[in-house]
Parts: sequence; structure tokens; C-alpha cells
Amino acid sequence: MCGIVGYLGHQPAYPILIKGLTRLEYRGYDSAGVALINNQKISLYKCKGKVAELEAFAAKFDVGGNIGIGHTRWATHGAPNDANAHPHFSQSEDLVIIHNGIIENYSTLKKGLEKRGYVFRSETDTEVLAYLIEDIQKEIGTNLEESVRLALNEVIGAYAILVMHRDEPHKLIAAKKGSPLVIGIGKDDFFIASDATPIVEYTRNVIYLEDEEIALIRLGQDIVIRTIADKEIKPYIHELQIELEQLEKGGFEHFMLKEIHEQPRSIYDSLRGRLDSSTGRVSMSVIRDFEAKILAADRFIVVACGTSWHAGLVAEYLFEDFARIPVEVEYASEFRYRNPILSEKDIVIAISQSGETADTLAAIQLAKQRGATILGICNVVGSSIPRASHGGAYTHAGPEIGVASTKAFTAQVAVLTLMAIVIGKKRGHLNESKFRQLLYELERIPEDITQALTTDSHIQTLAARFKDARNFLYLGRGYNFPVALEGALKLKEISYIHAEGYPAAEMKHGPIALIDEEMPVVVIATQGDSYEKIVSNIQEVKARGGKIISVVTSGDVEVAAISDYVIEVPAVSEALSPMVNSIPLQLLSYHIAVLRGCNVDQPRNLAKSVTVE
Ligand code: G6P
Repeated sequence: MCGIVGYLGHQPAYPILIKGLTRLEYRGYDSAGVALINNQKISLYKCKGKVAELEAFAAKFDVGGNIGIGHTRWATHGAPNDANAHPHFSQSEDLVIIHNGIIENYSTLKKGLEKRGYVFRSETDTEVLAYLIEDIQKEIGTNLEESVRLALNEVIGAYAILVMHRDEPHKLIAAKKGSPLVIGIGKDDFFIASDATPIVEYTRNVIYLEDEEIALIRLGQDIVIRTIADKEIKPYIHELQIELEQLEKGGFEHFMLKEIHEQPRSIYDSLRGRLDSSTGRVSMSVIRDFEAKILAADRFIVVACGTSWHAGLVAEYLFEDFARIPVEVEYASEFRYRNPILSEKDIVIAISQSGETADTLAAIQLAKQRGATILGICNVVGSSIPRASHGGAYTHAGPEIGVASTKAFTAQVAVLTLMAIVIGKKRGHLNESKFRQLLYELERIPEDITQALTTDSHIQTLAARFKDARNFLYLGRGYNFPVALEGALKLKEISYIHAEGYPAAEMKHGPIALIDEEMPVVVIATQGDSYEKIVSNIQEVKARGGKIISVVTSGDVEVAAISDYVIEVPAVSEALSPMVNSIPLQLLSYHIAVLRGCNVDQPRNLAKSVTVE
């Protein structure tokens, strides 16, 4: 969480920083700030609220300068107010810093500095680091980069930081551990950011800083990278693959709506080049490279958070069904603090859109230490999880900007489905004809999704009917139980309506007590093995007066007859249905949230990339 952006060059820094912060706002949006150096003076503007509020606030002031840093915050230490917003000055106000992450030993460091007479102005851990760097500079007389290095040696925790100093207006220091940082190399300038989205319109050449690395960025000179242990590292320049249009709304009212409608394309892109059903040829480097380990694996353990965890639950059904491999699906945050039993025969699949989620990263580190093989399924190329994994597969859904995940989820499920089909074939549990049939159907899922998207205007009408509901229940069975969980999560995240997802049969063991005439119950009741069972579950809801909204297979009459409202989706095999059935649930959440006047793309209290535990 928190977005970091920096510029050093010959152009006016302020507009570049503001544009960059707007792109990074998905990372946190409770306060924002910038600092610029101009004529040996630091101007610092920050305030509670979004980047637009910062812009309005800074409009009355001088925002000149060709070097600057900017920050958008998701509060961890201290309330989201003006004082706690970044950047933070050092005591003398000669040095200024922005930070993403958590300094765990900040209170010990702070007490030590207070004893020496320092007076703090905010409750943040970041300010402590600014003071510490300055204290080292004064006490030891080291230059800025060396003082940063020495200070970071005293820090426990996670950080991505940018530091600049009034007396050195041609220099920026960047450092990272745990939180991401990318440096873009322009013609004669530098762009630094938490991810590549603020950089791509200026340059495609980037360096991804690794943990415990410090970059010295100077005008007119090559970047110098050293570790905090003072070892020089040769920078490796990557070429960015994302396109600028992917970061714009493209005529849609919100990023979330655009991303929902992009799913035929994002699934196609995630499968493109990986399967050809006409020949039965599948090419997945993750399976090629880890075939022996995968085939010998005792079990798969999925670690993930949020929506990615739901994709993991779908994968559990897929791998058990097709490949007959036992699967455990773990919340990364729980897994990392248990004492999990792992061996070299375990494959850990880490699923993450951002590739930066702190808990998932920590779960990977733990599993790695215990000898497991880690395969990452991630969307953001070059992010930390793929780099920490032994291998894996990217999802190629394109940048997802809306905080509530949509296209990343279906792309994860698509890639995991393909993996399960291929592994199932290799392990001898799928015969050639079933294998070919599944590949054929998977290849056509983008068309099925296009059809499912035509429910949009009907769902808008349903949303108007239910927008004032206080609670929602989502029910599904088998493959569609995770879809119910994901449907409920989507609604909570963006509309702030309380919603619960439940396995439909489990409802009678508790949630049934909640059902009355006020309660909308969304039931995923498409054709499949448990169709008749779910019909009975719907009857149970109906008997108690609940309002039933069913997602049914096109042409269904049985469920339609007992439901209050139906949403029709195209017929697909049950194992592939989570991708299709998720579409109407995403649309329902979206339209309800819009009608309630919620900020769909940036829901309150949430952040897209959760780099703190
Ligand atoms: C946050 C986001 C969710 C996401 C979860 C896991 O909570 O708001 O949308 O599902 O993190 O993120 P990841 O990037 O690891 O998939």
C-alpha cells in the first residue's frame, strides 16, 4: 500500500508527480503529498484526502522545480490527517522522505532520538527514519547515500523509500525491502514509482530494485546500486510490456466496468499461445520446467489472499477433479504464522494479482525455507512474488486498476484450469477425448463471457430493485461455492452492503436464520452435478420468504419457476462455469454500488496492493 513517485530531470516535476500519483492512487488514497526542490528550497504540500484535493490545495502555491517526490497514503501508523501525510521532513527540514511499508522497530528508534532532543511532528514510523538519516549525517558526517545506508541497517521492517536533500538538488536516493520500487530511465531524466504505471508514458526502460538495494540516482550520471551491506550491484535494465491505453478508462464510467467488459480479451490473452485445441497442443513453461516435481507431488498447497484465495478454491476443485492431486487452500496470513508441515514433495501455488501482497510473499518464503517448490500465478510482470517463486505463469489480464478485482480473478481461474487439464492428462486421469473436449471448451470461454456480459442492462434493473438491501446472501455448491464467496466479497467491497457467501447446503446450519422477506439471496444454480440439490436449497429459502435471484443456464425452466428473478448465462461445463458465472455477480455489485453513490474504483478503507501484513 501507499504509492511512491519521484522525478529527477529537466522537466517541471510537479505535473509528472501528480499524474503518477493519480495512476498509483489504487494503492491508497487517504492522504497525498509532494515535495519539490527549487532554488535550494524545499516546497512541501500535503493534505488529507485524494490526489485531486492535494492538487486543489497546492494550486495556490509555487510548484516549480525539476526534482520532486510524491506519495499517496494508506494509513498504518497514525490517522489519515495532514500531519501524518507524506512527505516527511527531517528535524532541520533540509531532508525529505516518502515511504511505503512499516518500520517495525520505529518506536525504539524514536525513543532513542527523543532522548537526544529530537521532537517529532507526526505519529508516523516514516518521520523516525527521516530523523535517523539526518542524525547519522550530522554525527558521522557521511554523505546522503551513505547515511541512508547506515540508517537502513538499523531498521527492521519493510520499506520502499525516496529521499532528497535541499543541498543536493541533483540527487535522489531510492531503497527497497519488501515493498516494490521501479526506476524508469528516460533520455536524460529518471522516473521512480511503486509500479511501472506512472513510468510507461515516459520510458520503457526500467530497473526493478531488489530487496536491500539502494539506488543513487543523479542527473547526467548512470544509476549506482549498492546493497545495504555495501556491495555494488550491476543494474539490470528490463523493457516494459504494458501499453498506455491499458491505463485509461477507454470511455467507460469506471475502471471496474471497463475491466469487467475486458474479460473476453483478458482470458483470451491469458490462454493465448498456451493452447490449441485443434491439435491438442499445450505449451506452459511452468509445467514443462517442473514436470517431474509436479508429477511426483504429494499435494498442492495454494496460498493467497482475498479474491486470489477464491481463485485458489476453484483450483482445489479443478486439481482434485482432473489431476487427482490433494489440494489445500490456505489464507497466506494464517499459513505464515502456523507451523505448517511441508516437504520437498509439496508444490506451493502462490496466487496474486499484484504479486506484492505481503502475507503471500511471507508464506512463500516460509514454504521455500521448508523445501517446497513454489509456483507463482501472478498478473504484474516483474513483481515480487514471481521473482520469489521457483517458477510459475503470468495471467496476462493487463493492468487492473479498479480496487475490486474482476478480470484478474477470471484470468487466474483460466490459467489454473489449463494447468489442471494438462496435469490431469499427464497424470493419466484424463483420456485424450476428455482432454481435447475440455481444451475446446476452455478456448471458447471468451465467447461465453461475451454472451454473459449481455446481461448488463437486465442486471442494472435488478440492482435498482435491491440497492437498499442491508444484507445479501450468496449460495453455490461445488465449483460455484467459491463463486458465491467471490460474489459476496465483491458486493461488500464496493457497495458496503453486508454480504455472506455460503455453500448452499450449509445454509441450513446457521444463515437460514437470517432469511426473511427482506433478504435477497443470490443462488448460482447453473446446470451441473448438484443442480437438483440446489433446487432443494432454493425451496428452503423460498419457504422462508427470501427473495431469490438465480443465475441459471440459458433456457432453464425449473429454477426459473421458483426464483423471483433470474439471470441467464450460456451453458458450459460445470468445471469451467466459475469464469462465466462470476460475470453477472460482478455486474450486480457494480451497479448496486453505482446506484448507492459509492466510489466504485476506490472503495473506502481498501487498497489494491496490500504490502503490509
Ligand atoms: C487486496 C485487494 C483484493 C485482492 C487482495 C489480494 O485486498 O483489495 O482485491 O484480492 O488484496 O491481492 P493480490 O494482489 O495478492 O491478488
